[in-house]
Amino acid sequence: MSVSNTEVFAEVRRVTEALANEDVSTFEALEEFRVKYLGTKGLVKGFLEQMRHIPADQRREYGLVVNALKQAAELRYQKAKAKLEAEAEHTRAATLDLTAPGEPIPLGARHPIAITMERIISIFERIGFSVADGPEIEHDWYNFTAMNTPEDHPARDMQDTFYIVGAPGMLLRTHTSNVQARVMTARKPPIRIIAPGRVYRNETISARSHAQFHQVEGLYVDEGVSFADMKQTLFYFAQQMFGATKIRLRPSFFPFTEPSAEMDIWLGTKTEEDRRLTKGTGWLEILGCGMVDPQVLENCGIDSSRYTGFAFGMGIERQALRLFGIPDIRLLFENDVRLLRQFASAL
Ligand code: PHE
Repeated sequence: MSVSNTEVFAEVRRVTEALANEDVSTFEALEEFRVKYLGTKGLVKGFLEQMRHIPADQRREYGLVVNALKQAAELRYQKAKAKLEAEAEHTRAATLDLTAPGEPIPLGARHPIAITMERIISIFERIGFSVADGPEIEHDWYNFTAMNTPEDHPARDMQDTFYIVGAPGMLLRTHTSNVQARVMTARKPPIRIIAPGRVYRNETISARSHAQFHQVEGLYVDEGVSFADMKQTLFYFAQQMFGATKIRLRPSFFPFTEPSAEMDIWLGTKTEEDRRLTKGTGWLEILGCGMVDPQVLENCGIDSSRYTGFAFGMGIERQALRLFGIPDIRLLFENDVRLLRQFASAL
């Protein structure tokens, strides 16, 4: 083997010298160079594999020779790579048009529902209400029982919901009134809160009803809070939100308020749109409201002989349609950016 050993040594040295003549003037050529010398099936690897045929007393020297080849190949590769990259960068810089307009960063837009909610919130914040929050997955007690709607109460049918399998007593809240119950059990009056959020009802889905929608509720509990306070607060809201000049309160029923009412705002019947929205009456229903039932106060640990309060609740979707002139509620949920981007500057 000594003859062929000598040949192997000579071959490694020859390859090492020849390497300087390889073409590495383009990225493609450089990659070919890398594969040929340093790749997993490349020359360096191949020579190393021959180590086992080299007599033990020559292995050290053979290792040095192959290593010299490897280092020479790596050095050539790194130098050529750095040179090519510097050239590419130079060309790029030379052709870069510093006066060209920048890539636009697409600005997101707030959803009409979010914008509407924020308007409502800011109106009430101006008169001393602050935002309170509560969970959408709620315990039966906060959503129904505390709000004077016990298990077998017929009003539960008005607000059928989704129950959580395997979690007895847990459901998706049907109104943000659960926040009223939570705040009243946690704090003492004076309480003046506004509760925006998403709510759920188990209804047959149609163009008019969704299993999911948004509400804002309000609650004011203190000594001496009266029906007149409620009326004035809601009138202020109607003025600020809709520019309404008149409101009316019609008797209604909610298990958690007594007396209860629906509030309408006066739109009039002048335009086609107003006649359509108000079904020819000029009045548009906006929200439900009433004096907090003393039983609800007691359920939440508030002394009903000392405190009174009012509460109100409204859906957001229809108000958003009116505010932005959107003709169909389904458009609010389709997430079509062609619709949504129109409101980018609406705040
Ligand atoms: N929680 C009622 C609903 O979802 C609205 C409401 C709130 C009515 C507060 C009166 C007082 O329909």
